[in-house]
Amino acid sequence: MAAEFNLDALIDSEAGVVSRELFVDRDIYEAELDRIFARAWLLIGHEGLVPTPDSYFVTRMGDDSVLLTRNRQGEIMAFLNSCPHRGMRVCRYDQGAAPVFTCPYHGWSFSTNRERVAVPGQLVGVPRSDEGYGGKLDRVRWGLVPVPRLEVYKGSIWASWDAAAPPLDAYLGDMRRYLDLALDHRDGSPGGAELLGGVQKWRIRCNWKTVAENFAGDLYHEVSHISANLAEIGLAKGKGRRDKLPLRHAIGFEGLGHGGLGFPPSTDPPADLSPDYGDAEINNYFADVHARRVANLQGKAHVNLVVGTIFPNMSFHAHQPRSLAVVHPISATEEEMWRMYLVDADAPAKVKDMLRRYYLRYSGPGGMTEADDMENWTSVTQSSQGNIARRQAFNYQLGLGKEQPVPGLEGGIDSGNYSEGNARIYYRRWAEFMGAADWSEIGPAPAVDAMAAAGAAAAAHGD
Ligand code: FES
Ligand SMILES: [Fe+2]
Repeated sequence: MAAEFNLDALIDSEAGVVSRELFVDRDIYEAELDRIFARAWLLIGHEGLVPTPDSYFVTRMGDDSVLLTRNRQGEIMAFLNSCPHRGMRVCRYDQGAAPVFTCPYHGWSFSTNRERVAVPGQLVGVPRSDEGYGGKLDRVRWGLVPVPRLEVYKGSIWASWDAAAPPLDAYLGDMRRYLDLALDHRDGSPGGAELLGGVQKWRIRCNWKTVAENFAGDLYHEVSHISANLAEIGLAKGKGRRDKLPLRHAIGFEGLGHGGLGFPPSTDPPADLSPDYGDAEINNYFADVHARRVANLQGKAHVNLVVGTIFPNMSFHAHQPRSLAVVHPISATEEEMWRMYLVDADAPAKVKDMLRRYYLRYSGPGGMTEADDMENWTSVTQSSQGNIARRQAFNYQLGLGKEQPVPGLEGGIDSGNYSEGNARIYYRRWAEFMGAADWSEIGPAPAVDAMAAAGAAAAAHGD
């Protein structure tokens, strides 16, 4: 059971002050596994990773290995990847297809095929079953441990260990409209994105929250990426990364913990942000997609976003590059980043190839922008572990008091361009999870007016 913490001493999110212990302390890390990762909705994959009957993908939830699979009937399900007999990894490969999962230690085997079993994951093969167990081993009780909640949203697959968690739709709230930008077709029609390649995985020596808060809305670290801009890694030759994009706003969701850098809902025709790609076929493709987008969204409130985080550890890039990321916790001072890339399924091969090259020079372990961030995150972690350093606090006061409700977004708060408002929202949600006994104490979003008043009050006494 997790230790009790004085959350008020660790976080004063109204004043924008957070203890460095959140990013280095082992007891806090252990408690997070219990109070956050065993309760929250977590992104565990994409349908493209389990495309056919019997396909599987080994994923993670918190520090647990999880087997994600599509059964013979086409249903997607997930199980703890640890044998009920003595704990062996039932599936030792990253990805593949198997009609039955056989544990390599003593040979118990498990099936998800409803034509063979009453309960997916139950035991179907037990060596020496008659002589060893008298044929009486309870094959359901000793089946694979199922993940109790799983939902698929526009190809993205989410799960929670907590049967009492609210539906995914309520958990996402209106942040879902921003997530749609990554999952929908670029022309605005629902769905239509597919995975481009496999999953990139790499480890970074930093706390998992350091990444999540950056992607939640840190426009302020632009100085870190000047070198990437000077190197002109943008979509078009000789250009920066986002030449046509106006300054983004920090838009967060009070009470949900999600946030990103983007724009409030608008019914104006969407702007064409495409650069000149220097190739007629690619230019024509994006011009056509944009024309369809304008037609599809005509008169409808639509949003735009560059990057965002869904509490606790899922982030996404919705503009270019376009990707889903999960920050898996490894220890208080290490995380494992998984990144999946998305592209419109019906885009021509030439467009997909151009985007593949761009995504790789921007993101991932070899991406120039990501490398800037990783350097910061590892150094932040190293220099916050010292005996004296860890006693200090971090400052999250940027933009304090600028919070404004966003019309048309439930619980939406716009805290301006250069603001740590989303991080303050994120850490309030963190404290809520860490202090709650169960989901009944993890409250719904407070009224937006109350939040705006709290921001104004904090500005009055803070600096
Ligand atoms: S640990 Fe799996 S069968 Fe023994
Ligand atoms: Fe960055």
